[in-house]
Amino acid sequence: MLITILFGPPGSGKGTQAAYITKRYGLQHVSTGDMLRKEAEKGTDLGNEVAPIMAEGRLVPDDLIVRVIEARLRETNAAGVLLDGFPRTVPQAAALDEMLRRTGRKVDLVLFLDVPEEKLIERLLGRALTEGREDDNLETIQNRIEIYHRDTEPVLDHYRDQPATAIEVVDGDAAILEVAERVRNAVDRHYRDAA
Ligand code: AP5
Repeated sequence: MLITILFGPPGSGKGTQAAYITKRYGLQHVSTGDMLRKEAEKGTDLGNEVAPIMAEGRLVPDDLIVRVIEARLRETNAAGVLLDGFPRTVPQAAALDEMLRRTGRKVDLVLFLDVPEEKLIERLLGRALTEGREDDNLETIQNRIEIYHRDTEPVLDHYRDQPATAIEVVDGDAAILEVAERVRNAVDRHYRDAA
């Protein structure tokens, strides 16, 4: 089972590109943001706990999200998994590594969508007009980007220190289909190199 992390700041296009990659490579898309939003919509205990945290753009506690991911990975039997929005802190990455190690797996590839900050803000404010996500307002977007730099960016260094994990940096500042083409080339290159 190939484990790929789709990595990048809020608004870099992780969810958008995930749709293309999962289709092409038969991967299971595991988006922690989508999973938590569904729980919040359903009003479950978990959803009620995380909803106010997400509305402020803060991260939910590591132990909670690790439990959610562990349960999800246990029940999947797809050819591979595409993690979107996880891991988001170094402790989450360490927990993921450990949970994969127990079943003889590892993170194979980190795909980093690199997009300049002004574009992130523009895209998320644009989405606010069409989708109305509670965390897509200027103050919360800036908070999410700050948290990304402080807590999430170090995850990339965590994997840079692991020779068994490949990192592909994709310039995500282009039209959606152009980025999809770049992502496809990066994943194909990795699969070819890994073969
Ligand atoms: P999550 O849902 O993961 O949000 P995010 O990381 O902020 O990412 P977004 O969904 O906003 O952006 P994206 O990169 O997926 O871009 P998208 O494709 O949607 O997390 C939400 C919250 O949940 C967190 O703040 C936290 O509270 C909690 N959470 C989740 N995971 C957690 C974890 N592991 N630990 C702790 N807490 C966690 O695109 C954005 C917009 O741009 C769209 O409108 C799209 O159409 C447009 N767009 C995309 N690509 C392009 C392009 N190339 N050109 C022009 N427009 C584009």
